[in-house]
Amino acid sequence: MRRIKTGVKRGMAWCLIAMMLSGCQNKDALQDPKSIRIGVTVYDQYDTFISQLITCFSADLSAKEKETGTVIHIEVYNAADSQTTQNSQVEEMLENGCDVICVNLVDRTDPTTIIDLAEKQNIPLIFFNRELVEEDLERWNRLYYVGAKAFESGVMQGEIAAEIFQSDPSVDKNQDGIFQYVVLEGEAGHQDAIVRTEYAVSTLVEQQVLVEKLGYGIANWNRAQAQTKMTQMLDQHGKEIELVLANNDDMALGAVDALKALQIPREDWPVIMGIDGTDVGLEAVANKELAGTVYNDKEGQALAMLNLAYQLATGGELSDLALEDEKYIRLPYAKVESEDVERYQNREKL
Ligand code: GAL
Repeated sequence: MRRIKTGVKRGMAWCLIAMMLSGCQNKDALQDPKSIRIGVTVYDQYDTFISQLITCFSADLSAKEKETGTVIHIEVYNAADSQTTQNSQVEEMLENGCDVICVNLVDRTDPTTIIDLAEKQNIPLIFFNRELVEEDLERWNRLYYVGAKAFESGVMQGEIAAEIFQSDPSVDKNQDGIFQYVVLEGEAGHQDAIVRTEYAVSTLVEQQVLVEKLGYGIANWNRAQAQTKMTQMLDQHGKEIELVLANNDDMALGAVDALKALQIPREDWPVIMGIDGTDVGLEAVANKELAGTVYNDKEGQALAMLNLAYQLATGGELSDLALEDEKYIRLPYAKVESEDVERYQNREKL
């Protein structure tokens, strides 16, 4: 079992073990024409959204096996935030005979090594969630991207915030008619962070809400880092903060943690908005700690990625997959407020 190079720990370990038991390294399976091998590498297995996306992907496998009569072997690696590690993982997956490799790039500006390795062996690559620039995706005709329509999440977050400001005068705490906000941003340079912030704010403005930015903190999608940044901003601006626009649910929850740790009474909390609709995010919308979130369709993305991987691995038709520009699959987002939560909590059953 040499394939898990970066010590896979609890959480994803159970699904890895299950996949290995299903015969990842089974030599007989390799000779079976009705079996394919899919490699997956994620930038950070402890990222809440990514780990839930991979859980969905694994859960879809057995249905796909039943539907197609093909045995699907899968290997999942954690790049642990190192592009160099991820490059070696791809090399190893190619050596292991993967028919297609799904890559959640660590550094979305640095896919060259991986593309070159795969092209040399003519193995198609599906990049997901962390979108590389178009010129890189154009470099070879067997490169694909599965993700979401990034700008849409910002627009929806801005729409929910505008609707709250316009319908509930109590959120304008100082009654100056202006929504004073702070932003908790994901990684610098990540397409979702840049686009979400930009569109959330421009949508508020388009909806005729006057806004004033008090500050921002980069918290790398991470709850603990967001708590630290929010604590600092509360220290600086205190009750002036009326709105927290977080680029994802984990960071929105970090803001909640900061407010709780400082024992700020609930009625004095700002409006807090997330994006993703992770399990913990949805729970926080249900109990109204978050005013809303935007559903990042992990089930849809996982299934699209599996269907595409299957077709690529078996040399099947791609025409049914509705690829944009023959390369992209982008799933839509959806607004989630407290009344919608239950529907999304049961999303996988729909
Ligand atoms: C975003 C997601 C974040 C984080 C990031 C990782 O789409 O909203 O929570 O998972 O991807 O690339």
